[in-house]
Amino acid sequence: MDSGKQLTGTLAVAVFTAALGSLQYGYSLGVINAPQKVIEKHYGLALGVWSERNAVLPENSTEEENLEVGHHPDVIMYWSLSVSIFSVGGMLSSFLVGFVGDLRGRVKGMLMVNVLAIAAGLLMGLCKMWKPHIMVIAGRAVMGFYCGLTSGLVPMYIGEIAPKAYRGALGTLHQLAIVIGILISQVIGLDFVLGNDDMWPVLLGLSGAPAVLQTLLLPLCPESPRYLYILLGKEQEAKKSLYRLKGAYDATSDLEEMRREKEEADKEPRISIFSLIRSSVYRQQLFVALMMHLSQQLSGINAIFYYSTSIFAGAGVAQPVYATIGVGVINTVFTMVSVALVDKAGRRTLTLAGLGGMCFCAVAMTVGLRFQNDYTWMSYVSMSAIFLFVSFFEIGPGPIPWFIVAELFSQGPRPAAIALAGCCNWTSNFIIGMTFPYIQDWLGCYVFILFAVLLLGFTVFTYLRVPETKGKSFKEIAAAFQKGRKQLAQIPKDNTELQQLKTSADA
Ligand code: GLC
Repeated sequence: MDSGKQLTGTLAVAVFTAALGSLQYGYSLGVINAPQKVIEKHYGLALGVWSERNAVLPENSTEEENLEVGHHPDVIMYWSLSVSIFSVGGMLSSFLVGFVGDLRGRVKGMLMVNVLAIAAGLLMGLCKMWKPHIMVIAGRAVMGFYCGLTSGLVPMYIGEIAPKAYRGALGTLHQLAIVIGILISQVIGLDFVLGNDDMWPVLLGLSGAPAVLQTLLLPLCPESPRYLYILLGKEQEAKKSLYRLKGAYDATSDLEEMRREKEEADKEPRISIFSLIRSSVYRQQLFVALMMHLSQQLSGINAIFYYSTSIFAGAGVAQPVYATIGVGVINTVFTMVSVALVDKAGRRTLTLAGLGGMCFCAVAMTVGLRFQNDYTWMSYVSMSAIFLFVSFFEIGPGPIPWFIVAELFSQGPRPAAIALAGCCNWTSNFIIGMTFPYIQDWLGCYVFILFAVLLLGFTVFTYLRVPETKGKSFKEIAAAFQKGRKQLAQIPKDNTELQQLKTSADA
């Protein structure tokens, strides 16, 4: 049987189990939005700036009183910290992905970090037992730390165990699980489900639940054969793992590919994050990987996710919370479309189509917002533009950066590259989350023009620099970059235009 085309039960279990970590990441991203007012009220209570009467009967409180607690400087500070500390945790831990993945292997790595997720879930779930604001902030920090690790470990493991022909589809499952996590948190965060006075700690605490299930399933998952062979030199164990993942097949070519990679990896010292940054050999790959993560975040997607309810309200939608859930549904549906397309259409094509489409939608959104007071139907333009924006994102720019980093690098530099790309993703996510409200204040209805310009730049970059990785071996992908370097090196000295290109590529 064709070795590249087998999907076994064990592989399905392994990918499903790993993706539970991504589900948890998505849930934690989304869970904090819907119950904001309820949680702020309990913070106010704990801090003594909100009276018991108002807490019990919020519907009786005047708008002024409501504003007072929402805008009390202490409540604002503790609330902002609860939101943003998550990204700080992620930024810090994303650097450790390589270390944790290499320490005892990918499977044991995922198992170890689950301790963090469960502890974070308990801190938040039991927050009413002590000072809720402190407990939630501590829980969010630990959860962020966990998510920074899992957002690197999951794509690394899936990328290493997936058969070449399905690497894109299986890699996209990381993003699919993230968006399903966001959607679940949006739905169960509604006030008549868990987003209310009594249940909100359970809502937050549940973010630790997937880790419990994952802990039970991980012992059934085979270790990455590439880790076993290339890093530890255990050929027999790697072979066993390959058979478990792919069934009975002729493993010769897979083993041969790993043997060649091992030879190369053995020739150079272990590649740390710092040596990767300095190395000229991997510069092109690293540049592409970081730019793809930047394009994912600087596209403005999280401006929509974090602030959609207020954007919808501003666009004149009567029930903005339900429109936000609508975004979650579209998000999930189009990620599924991407799972189906990515190994056929290819990474490059889908990224280009996605970024280009998002650029167009950002312009349409601006037109809609600018003229909504002049023509009522303009609010439909902005609504449709938001839905389409999210759809284009999930076709390519959302899922692809997460798994393409594992494809762009061979075994040696892979963990360090994933760590750097993850850190770039978390940092830019944090910056957008913190600055968007100010940028929105400053640019008003023109705020999405900024993203349109960035998106145009990223589309051009992808067209010029991002190679197709579909169906290629890790070695072939690395060779494509080396070829690019050699071609640039051979440019005649008198060709100034191309020499400039070479200089900028070397820089
Ligand atoms: C990607 C992004 C994340 C975003 C999500 C939305 O996973 O990394 O920041 O919230 O997509 O679907």
